[in-house]
Amino acid sequence: MTDPDLLTSDLLAAVDAAATPEALEAVRVRALGKQGEVTALLKSLGGMTPDERQVEGPRIHALREAVTVALAARKASLEQAALDARLASETLDLTLPVDLPPTGTIHPVSQVMDELAEIFADLGFAVATGPEIEDDWHNFTALNIPETHPARAMHDTFYFEPQARTAGDEARRMLLRTHTSPVQIRTMLANKPPIRIIAPGRTYRSDSDATHTPMFHQVEGLVIDRGITLGHLKWTLETFLKAYFEREDIVLRLRPSYFPFTEPSAEVDVGYTLIKGKRVIGGSGDDANGGWMEVLGSGMVHPKVIAACGLDPAEWQGFAFGCGIDRLAMLKYGMDDLRAFFDGDVRWLKHYGFSALDVPTLSGGVGA
Ligand code: DAH
Repeated sequence: MTDPDLLTSDLLAAVDAAATPEALEAVRVRALGKQGEVTALLKSLGGMTPDERQVEGPRIHALREAVTVALAARKASLEQAALDARLASETLDLTLPVDLPPTGTIHPVSQVMDELAEIFADLGFAVATGPEIEDDWHNFTALNIPETHPARAMHDTFYFEPQARTAGDEARRMLLRTHTSPVQIRTMLANKPPIRIIAPGRTYRSDSDATHTPMFHQVEGLVIDRGITLGHLKWTLETFLKAYFEREDIVLRLRPSYFPFTEPSAEVDVGYTLIKGKRVIGGSGDDANGGWMEVLGSGMVHPKVIAACGLDPAEWQGFAFGCGIDRLAMLKYGMDDLRAFFDGDVRWLKHYGFSALDVPTLSGGVGA
C-alpha cells in the first residue's frame, strides 16, 4: 500500500508545481478522481481489519483534506494571477481625449421639464422641489386624504418597512411619493403667500403596462393668494398649453371631477383633430373630426389643505393642478410607448432626444 505521508508530500509538490488551471486539474484527477491515488487509498479502508482502519483511517482522511485544501488555494492563486495579467494587459486610460464628438442627447422628459420651467417662469412661477421618499402625512393626510380614505388604495403606494417607532407615529411612515402634490404642502409650510410654484419630479406607483411605469414624472402647480378664482386657473392652463404645444388653437374643456385636495375639482381635456388618423392637439374636440383628450387634474385648493399648512382659508385661496410629464412629452413629440422612455436605448434617444445646445426659450420656441 502507498504510504499516505509519502503520497501527501508528493501530491502537495505536484499542486505547487501546477502552473496552469489545466495542469492543476490533472493533479486533481490524479489524486481525487475516480481512479485517483487518494481515492484508491480511501477504497482500501474497506478491506482492512478494524484495528488497521483505526490507524490508517485518520491518516488517509488527513491526506485527502490536505490535498483538497492545497488544490483550492492553488486554484484561487492561479485565478488571481490570471485576473492580474488581464487587468494589466487591458488597461484603458480614461484621461485620454476622445476622438469622437459626444453623442449624448437630452432625454425628452428633461427637455419637457425645462420647457415647463421656462413657460411658467414667464408667468411668475418659481420651481419648487420635495423629497421622493416622503412621509404619510405630506403625501396623504395633509392633502385631505385621511387614513381610511379610499384614495389611498387607488394610489398603489410603495411603502417602506415601518421603522421602530412610538405609538401614534403613523404620520412618519415612509413611502415613495405617489404624486407631486406633497410639494404643495411643503411649499405652503415653508413660505408665506402669495405663492406661485410648479414642482416637476419623479413619482412612484406599483403599476406597470404600456401606459404605466412604476416610476413616472408629474408636474404640480400651485397658486395661493387673495381672491383667486377658477377663472385664474382656466386662463393659466390655457396660456400654458398654448405655449407648450406652440399653437393658438388650443381649446380646453373643464369636466367636474373629484380630488380630495381640491373643491371644486375639474379634469381638463384638450381638443384634438384627427389628421391622417393621428390625433393632433389643437382645435375643438366637438368638431366633426375631433375629440377630447384628458391632460390634467385641477381644482381650487381645499380649505382643509390650506388650514393644514397653518394658513387661514378665509384669507387665502388658490388653485392647483397636476399632470403627467411623460404623457405631455408623448403628446407633443409623438412617442407611443411609455416604456421606451426608461429603456435607455441609445437609438431611441438619438431619434427623440434633444441637443444640449438647444435650450428651450419662449421667444425661440420651447420645443426646439
Ligand atoms: N395628484 C393628482 C394625481 O396624482 C393630480 C392632481 C389633481 C394634482 C388635481 C392637483 C390637482 O394639484 O389639483 O392623480
